[in-house]
Amino acid sequence: MSSSVDEPRALTRFRNASDPTPVAGGGLLSRRAVLKGAVTLGAAAALPAGAADEHLGAAQPSRRTPGLPPTGYGKPSRFEDAVTRTTYHRYGAIALGNGGSFTPLQQLRGTITPNGLHFERHHHGVPEIDPAKHRLVVHGLVKRPLRFSIEALGRYPMTTAMAFIECAGNSYPNTNDQPPQVTCGEIHGLVSCSEWTGVPLSLLLEEAGVQPDAKWIVAEGADAVSMHRSIPIEKALDDAIVALYQNGERLRPEQGYPVRLLLPGWEGNMSVKWLHRLELVTAPVQARDETSHYTDALPDGRALQFTFEMGVKSVITQPSPGWMLQGPGYYDISGLAWSGAGRIARVDVSADGGRTWAETELMESAQPFAFTRFRLPWRWDGKPVRLMSRAMDEREQIQPTRAEWLQRYGAKQRYHYHAIQAWQVDDMGEVSNAY
Ligand code: MTE
Ligand code: CO
Repeated sequence: MSSSVDEPRALTRFRNASDPTPVAGGGLLSRRAVLKGAVTLGAAAALPAGAADEHLGAAQPSRRTPGLPPTGYGKPSRFEDAVTRTTYHRYGAIALGNGGSFTPLQQLRGTITPNGLHFERHHHGVPEIDPAKHRLVVHGLVKRPLRFSIEALGRYPMTTAMAFIECAGNSYPNTNDQPPQVTCGEIHGLVSCSEWTGVPLSLLLEEAGVQPDAKWIVAEGADAVSMHRSIPIEKALDDAIVALYQNGERLRPEQGYPVRLLLPGWEGNMSVKWLHRLELVTAPVQARDETSHYTDALPDGRALQFTFEMGVKSVITQPSPGWMLQGPGYYDISGLAWSGAGRIARVDVSADGGRTWAETELMESAQPFAFTRFRLPWRWDGKPVRLMSRAMDEREQIQPTRAEWLQRYGAKQRYHYHAIQAWQVDDMGEVSNAY
């Protein structure tokens, strides 16, 4: 069937002569160029005046028969079946519960991770917990030890916050000597961002009555590994949430159903899932996950404990490995930035391997401790280029280069990798991971 109008290309191109002048090397254009109407994108096919478009005709299959009936719980279109998490097992068959899955960052837009695509990290599988039987106990250095049912927690005033959760091990493939040739999500997808709703932890602690010598809280999960972490009391009283809802619905089992801890901006490991115990103590308990794991290997052989806050970070999600650019022309570069310090202040993009940079447009509704999407128009001339993004947060912390990051740590360091990501575009338009 032939079309009476031009089909749009997979990606948009400039059509007219009024292309804006580049603001940095490699064809980067002003972040304002498109929105201010300085550019005609040519994204849509031109419809000749007076021509009837065959796609509006009564012959369309979707107009000839009634559609499907309503359903109790919706799911994505079957045409989106390829949009899935990539699962992995940390130790293979000997410990199947120890594994996780990566969010396909390169297949998503906006800043909210759909619940079914939130990354997972389980140290001993996903327990099945009956909310009617589950209890959360607050004990230790408190005036009144308390036990909460899920139903009781539901009667407290709740708070809602957008927040990313990022595993301290996120992006570890980039600590390899050679750049792994996998998707953006399979490198950086141990991070997701949701709207979380639950009871402020400070409220529960107030009710229990914190004793003056309580300086830390041990949070423990009801999973088979009894995962637990020591958390400074200041964070617990500040913005910690005992979360019951994720993007408006109850937590998914994989995210800690029926209740998890959420510590905005801090390494994901501390946001204990399937939360059943909070013990107030004087000092950290030196749990497995704050001694043998989740510590930072330093150049002198020592290990640094308690790196809570996640570093400022960004990554270009479109284009990224797996993409083939469809020839020279206009492209909209898009990506995500986030920081454990709070808000993202600025993201720059380079198309010449870091020699020159252009400031991107940040989404206006971005929240602290949440994903911020950035975008920048770019005109590719068809020659090989190296795309990079570099974020700065409200504390003026700037994302390090890979070399700078490596220098800070010992050879075995795998956690807290947040260096600048480079994507190489070759002259065929193929995108690959590059150091
Ligand atoms: N809590 C319990 N009880 N058990 C776990 O295995 N994994 C931790 C943390 N909380 C874990 C846990 C780790 S390492 C991370 S990164 C986050 O949960 C992941 O949260 P998510 O699976 O909801 O993405
Ligand atoms: Co983790």
